[in-house]
Amino acid sequence: MRLPLLRLLLLALPVILGAAASSAAGRQDDAAIEQRIRALLARMTLPEKVAQLHLAGRADPPPPQLELIRQGRIGVMMNIPTAREIELYRAAAAQSRLRIPLMFGLDAVNVFRLALPAPIAWAASWSAEVAEDAAFRVGSEAAAVGINWTFAPAVDLSRDPRWGRVIEGAGEDPYLASVMAGARVRGYRRGGLATAVKHFVGYGFVESGKDYGGATMSTGDLFDLHLRPFKAALEAGSETVMAAFNTVNGMPASADRYLLTDVLRKRWGFNGFVTSDYGAINELIRHGIAADSAEAGRKALHAGLDLDMESYSYINHLEADVKAGRVPAAELDTAVLRILRTKARLGLFETIDTPVAARPVDESAMRATARRTARESFVLLKNDDDVLPLTPAYKRIALIGAWAQTDDDGSWFEPAELTKAETPTLYAAFKSRLSPGQTLTFAPGFTEKCGHVLADPEGAVAVARDADVVVLVVAEDCDISGEGTSRTNLNLSGAQQELLQRISRAGKPIVLLVNTGRPLTLTESAPLAKAVLIVWQGGTEGRNAIAEVAFGAYPPSGKLPMTFPRSVGQIPIYYNHLPTGRPPANDRYTSRYMDEEVTPLYPFGWGLSYTTFAYTDLVVETPRPHLDDVVRITVTLTNTGTRAGTEVAQLYTRQPVASRSRPVRELRRFVKVTLAPGESRKLAFELPVQELGFHDDQANYLVEPGRYQVFVGGNALADLATDFVAVP
Ligand code: BGC
Repeated sequence: MRLPLLRLLLLALPVILGAAASSAAGRQDDAAIEQRIRALLARMTLPEKVAQLHLAGRADPPPPQLELIRQGRIGVMMNIPTAREIELYRAAAAQSRLRIPLMFGLDAVNVFRLALPAPIAWAASWSAEVAEDAAFRVGSEAAAVGINWTFAPAVDLSRDPRWGRVIEGAGEDPYLASVMAGARVRGYRRGGLATAVKHFVGYGFVESGKDYGGATMSTGDLFDLHLRPFKAALEAGSETVMAAFNTVNGMPASADRYLLTDVLRKRWGFNGFVTSDYGAINELIRHGIAADSAEAGRKALHAGLDLDMESYSYINHLEADVKAGRVPAAELDTAVLRILRTKARLGLFETIDTPVAARPVDESAMRATARRTARESFVLLKNDDDVLPLTPAYKRIALIGAWAQTDDDGSWFEPAELTKAETPTLYAAFKSRLSPGQTLTFAPGFTEKCGHVLADPEGAVAVARDADVVVLVVAEDCDISGEGTSRTNLNLSGAQQELLQRISRAGKPIVLLVNTGRPLTLTESAPLAKAVLIVWQGGTEGRNAIAEVAFGAYPPSGKLPMTFPRSVGQIPIYYNHLPTGRPPANDRYTSRYMDEEVTPLYPFGWGLSYTTFAYTDLVVETPRPHLDDVVRITVTLTNTGTRAGTEVAQLYTRQPVASRSRPVRELRRFVKVTLAPGESRKLAFELPVQELGFHDDQANYLVEPGRYQVFVGGNALADLATDFVAVP
């Protein structure tokens, strides 16, 4: 994604128009499709074939796109955000010799016009339903103008919050990421878009969190961690895959035949197409595996990369390479068939003459989804003395932080200023929730929303001193989250820590609201606050949702999808690590640091509600399952507090003795449950033993008999435990 370009593209965005192009209803039967696309291929000239592999942008240089399309020289287009333009291009394709329809792609991730929270927030909801509905709404809004393909979902696992793109994925765990991947694919598709699950593969593991770097991993980790969410996305129907920029074990993913052909096509049977990332084919030159663009294209195509996004390698060189015999004609044909197959599956051939039709977008439903997604994503890290919610007992509430008076939608991906959906300020959202007799005072504290420079800090302290409770809003430097935003320092940015310190001296309870797209190191800041609520980047309805949760209309129920470290030096830090032969102890020669704890500040899965929960009666109903059996595990969850609350019950396993070292915990199941005060519920989890295996160095999947420990609780430290023994 290129942000300035994207903003430009979205400038002219009309909202209420729609196109009748693709929909799930138009998906075609396989045998008929194969017949049709092979017959079509037989009629295509070499230039027409090559054109299908070219993904052209909107602002590309002359000769004019329309004429090229009429000549059958462009197959797929990206970043065309208006129904009017899409209709022009579609009409041109209908005039081409073979009338092959175009396909229109765009990064409709969590924002088209109305901004939903960032995808990491979807994951923090730990709700497939929330994620699917969010994707459905974004998909519907984009499909309404005739877009038929989204460059989403990003499913890159990451253990490194220095990498800015953790905001786009689902965090560190392969199971949670797989659930989210499937849900997102289902949602976008239901909304009317084909999906491109990305970035295949290992992008979240770039060395030292530096974007576009290289990733190194064992075969076991490749299959057990990174590939799992991709497989889930394909099983949910993702029509396409986007190859990653990075190298994997020394080979650029865009030219890796093992990954793109042996794994994706041969092992998994995928027969949709693979697109490159932006300009990635030409980047093979800088990666040092091709001397020029033509060679880069040959290597990419041979590896199994079908569509060239913005490198102009295929369109400029493939024809000559095929004629000269440097590229086998069959290799070209295979890629062309994959593009045509996808277009046919989307029903695009049938609708080539159907003009773009007006289709309204239901803005109130969009807003309801946006609000719910935000509300369910917030993670309450601490709440000493039950300082939250803000009950009527607090007569004077102070709201501090310039962000509280802003109305940008807080996303790293913003629609153009002129067309964005109206976003209330946090101040207004708070004001609307005050009880009679409650007052709200405000001080910006900073000159701008990201808190770089203090503005009248003594004024802010005075406002705090006069209040019963202080709500301080801090933001990760808002301009540095997303692609190309790697950081080495994850503390509160700018002057935010300093203002927090000054305010804390006023001696009033502080609620810290943290806007962020990634885990931060809150080691210095969290102790100064009674409550810390992670609100991610909440989108258009985020502020309303914060007010709802802060004032207690809804309890917080999000859980961390990624570990929060104490310091950057602990990274990578993650819950599903291997055991060590020397567990940390008060002894120099054990696995620990001299200057820092080994535990995280907040573990994976962590998140409080306004009540407390107890887990009891953990029972494995099938204590000696066979390897093909499904284990049934039950536990009783009780709301032991005085308020209604929502909990995400999490089930982890461990294989304590295996043929190789296995992680100390692995998330296997979770369920989100709302309980009234005092209410108990028996929860049941079904776990096929076949899911508990792992891959060896030769990529064989092994499920071993023996003992498996089971842990159930509200986060990755869950200590209620039992076990079972799998028998051959
Ligand atoms: C990003 C992709 C994105 C593409 C198109 C690239 O820079 O890595 O995730 O889909 O741009 O905007």
